[in-house]
Amino acid sequence: MNQHRKPSRLWKQTRSRWLLGIPIGGFIALVLGALGVVTFHGVMDFTNTNEFCYGCHIGRDTIVEEYQASVHFNNRSGVIATCADCHVPKPFVDKMIVKVKATADIYYQLMETVTLENFEQERLRLAEHVWRDMAASNSRECRSCHTPERWDSDAQPIRVRTNHQKMLSQNMNCIDCHQGVAHKRPVIE
Ligand code: HEC
Ligand code: HEC
Ligand code: HEC
Ligand code: HEC
Repeated sequence: MNQHRKPSRLWKQTRSRWLLGIPIGGFIALVLGALGVVTFHGVMDFTNTNEFCYGCHIGRDTIVEEYQASVHFNNRSGVIATCADCHVPKPFVDKMIVKVKATADIYYQLMETVTLENFEQERLRLAEHVWRDMAASNSRECRSCHTPERWDSDAQPIRVRTNHQKMLSQNMNCIDCHQGVAHKRPVIE
C-alpha cells in the first residue's frame, strides 16, 4: 500500500502542475490574442488614414493636390470623403483583399513605376484599374455616402433627375457618368 501511495501522490502533483499550465497558457494566449487584435485594428485604421496615403502619393503624382481642390475635400457642408472612403471597401473580406493587394504598391513605390514626370502617361492605366473595380462593385464605395434610394428627386435639377432615373431604369453605376470626382479625369485619346 505504502509503496503505491508515493508514486501516486507524485503523479498527482505533476499532473496538477501540468494542469495549471492550461489556465496560464490560456491567459498568455488571451493576452497575445488581445495584443494581436489591438495591433491588427491599429494597423487597419492607420492604413486607412489620408496621412498614410499622402506618405507615398505626395511628390510622386498630383493626386493629393487635385483631391484637395475637389468637392470631396472642400464643400459647403464640410463633410469630406477620405481616400479610403472611395478606395478601400468597408466589408471585411473585400477590405482585406484590397489591403493585401496594396502591399504590391510598396514594390512599385521602390521601383518608381510612377513619377511626377510620367504620371500623365501612366494615369489612364491606373484609372482603368479603379474603374474596373468600381464597375465590379457597382460603385459600392460611392453608395456608402450617396444613397439613390434616399434621393429627393424633386429637389434635384431636371438634368440630374432625368439622368438618375436613367441610372435606376438601366441599372448603371455611378462611374458610368461620374468620372474625375476627386481627381482630374484622365485624357482618353
Ligand atoms: C507604399 C507607398 C504607397 C502608399 C502608402 C499608398 N500608395 Fe497608392 N500607389 C502607390 C504606387 C507606387 C502606385 C502605382 C502602382 C502602379 O504603378 O501600378 C499606387 C497606385 C494607387 C492607385 C491606382 C489604382 C491601382 O490599382 O493601381 C490607387 C487608387 C491608390 N494608389 C490609392 C491609394 C490609397 C487610397 C492609399 C491610402 C489608403 C494609398 N494608395 C497608399 C504607392 C502607395
Ligand atoms: C464619404 C462620403 C462620400 C463618398 C464615399 C463619396 N461622396 Fe460624393 N459627395 C460627398 C459629399 C459630402 C459631397 C458634397 C456635397 C455638397 O455639395 O455639400 C459630394 C458630392 C458629389 C457630387 C457632386 C459634385 C459637384 O460638383 O457638386 C458627385 C457627382 C459625387 N459626389 C459623386 C460621387 C461618386 C461617383 C463617388 C464614388 C466614386 C462618391 N461621390 C463618393 C460625399 C461622398
Ligand atoms: C446616367 C448618368 C448618371 C449616373 C449613372 C449617375 N449620375 Fe449623378 N448626375 C448625373 C448628371 C448628368 C448630373 C448633373 C451634374 C453633372 O453634370 O455632373 C448628376 C449629378 C449628381 C450629383 C449632384 C446632385 C445635385 O443636385 O447637384 C450627385 C451627388 C450625383 N450625381 C451622384 C451620383 C451617384 C452617387 C451615382 C451612383 C449611385 C450617380 N450619380 C449616377 C448623371 C448620372
Ligand atoms: C470621391 C471618391 C474619391 C476620393 C475621395 C479619392 N479618389 Fe482616387 N479615384 C476615384 C475615382 C472615381 C478614380 C478613377 C478615375 C477617375 O474617374 O477620376 C480614382 C483614381 C485614382 C488613382 C488613379 C490615377 C487617376 O488619376 O485616375 C489614384 C492613384 C487615386 N485615385 C488615389 C487616391 C488618393 C491617394 C486619394 C486621397 C488623397 C483619393 N484617390 C481620393 C475616386 C476617389
